[in-house]
Amino acid sequence: MLKLCVCVSGGGTNLQAIIDRIADGSITDTKIVRVISNNADAYALTRAGDAGIDAVCISPKSYEDRAAFHEALLSAVDEAAPDLIVLAGFLVVIPEEMIRRYRNRIINIHPSLIPAFCGKGYYGLKVHEEALKRGVKVTGATVHFVDEGTDTGPIILQKAVAIQDGDTPQVLQKRVMEEAEWQIMPKAIDLIAHDKVRVENGVTRILA
Ligand code: GRF
Repeated sequence: MLKLCVCVSGGGTNLQAIIDRIADGSITDTKIVRVISNNADAYALTRAGDAGIDAVCISPKSYEDRAAFHEALLSAVDEAAPDLIVLAGFLVVIPEEMIRRYRNRIINIHPSLIPAFCGKGYYGLKVHEEALKRGVKVTGATVHFVDEGTDTGPIILQKAVAIQDGDTPQVLQKRVMEEAEWQIMPKAIDLIAHDKVRVENGVTRILA
């Protein structure tokens, strides 16, 4: 049984997709043991509560400095003893100690086809604004392992999404979520639950 700790900051639609795919049996041998939010107002916490999942808020505002916040965050993760940490719209830079301790056991979803429109400052609507500004015809989403860089870890799954005439950043964000994020995040988790993802020299190999 793969135990997940899901970290969130906002609406939690990716968290919901994971909850729903576990419920309908598309993801098997997997359980969400804890949801952690850095933001007390995150609707994701309500989604976790509604699903009967242990949910905690670790807000930087409650700690005197970044180091104390990082320590509390890491303790909250360790306490849950997860096999995999899922960053599902978690707007916190992950402490290096956490990356070291959970090497190749932290995954993130990014709303573009990495290495396009990623790295420092590329989050939320900005990613889609830049894709539209550049005039790309295809964008998408990427699930990847988290390493010390920003969006630089081994890529697990990607899915392309077509850009359409008249797209606004908001419209594109919604299409990328529906057509890509909510599909590849649950799929990546199911692959990991069944030990089908290998990392070799910074690149993943998906076993058939
Ligand atoms: C998603 O676009 C995800 O790609 C990004 O943050 C957003 C989270 O949305 N990392 P939600 O909280 O899952 O609805």
